Amino acid sequence: MHIDIITLFPDMFADIFSQSILKRAQNKGLFSVEVHNLRDYSTNKNHNVDDYPYGGGAGMVIQVEPVDNCLTALKAKRHYGEIIYTAPDGERLSQSLCNELALNDNLCILCGHYKGVDERIREHLITREISIGDYVLSGGELAAAVIADSVVRLLPGVLNDETSALTDSFQQDLVSPPVYTRPANYKGWQVPDILLGGNDKLIDNWRFEQAVERTRQRRPELLEE
Ligand code: ADE
Repeated sequence: MHIDIITLFPDMFADIFSQSILKRAQNKGLFSVEVHNLRDYSTNKNHNVDDYPYGGGAGMVIQVEPVDNCLTALKAKRHYGEIIYTAPDGERLSQSLCNELALNDNLCILCGHYKGVDERIREHLITREISIGDYVLSGGELAAAVIADSVVRLLPGVLNDETSALTDSFQQDLVSPPVYTRPANYKGWQVPDILLGGNDKLIDNWRFEQAVERTRQRRPELLEE
C-alpha cells in the first residue's frame, strides 16, 4: 500500500513513520508513504494557501486551487481507492472502516485545517471524510497518522504474528481479553491458573468468555450492535 499525505505541517509526520510497526512495514516493502507540503502547490509568490472567508468571520480558509493542483499532480501518478479528508464531522473511524481501507493499493489523505477548507474541496475533490472521534483536534495531522497506523498494521505480513490483528479488540465487536507474562506470581498478584495449565481449548474458551464479559462491562453497546 502507498499513502500520500497532504499537509501544511509535514514535519509532524517525521517520527511517526520512522518508528516501530510503520517503519518495519516500509522496510519489508509492504507500505510506502510520501508527505506533501500543500504550500509547494501554491501559485502565489508567498506560497500562501489560505484566504479570508467570503461573508466575513474569523480565521482563514484553505483555498481550492492549491489542493486541486496537488491532487492533480498526485493523481497523474496513482489511482487512489479513496481520497480522504480528515474532519470532526466526517464518518467515524472504526475497525470495520480500517479493514475496508486496508484493501486499497493507494490512499491519499488531505489533512484538515482548524478553520476549515473551501467547501468545494469537500464537494469535488475528495471521496471520503473521516473523523477519529467526537472531539476537535487543532489540525488533521494526528487524525491522518491514526488512520495510517490503524490501516497499515492490517496489511498482510506487517505484523509478525499473522493472527494478532484478527484478535485485536473490536475485530469481532469484542474488546480484547486480558494478557499476562512472567512472573506467574508478582507480590501475590497471580496469573489465572487456566493460562498456566497448557490446555489450549480451555484457554481459548476462557479468553472468549473474558472478552465477552469485558465487553459487557466496558462497552455494552458493542454487544447490542
Ligand atoms: N480534525 C479536527 N478534529 C478532528 C477529528 N476529531 N477527526 C478527524 N479530523 C479532525
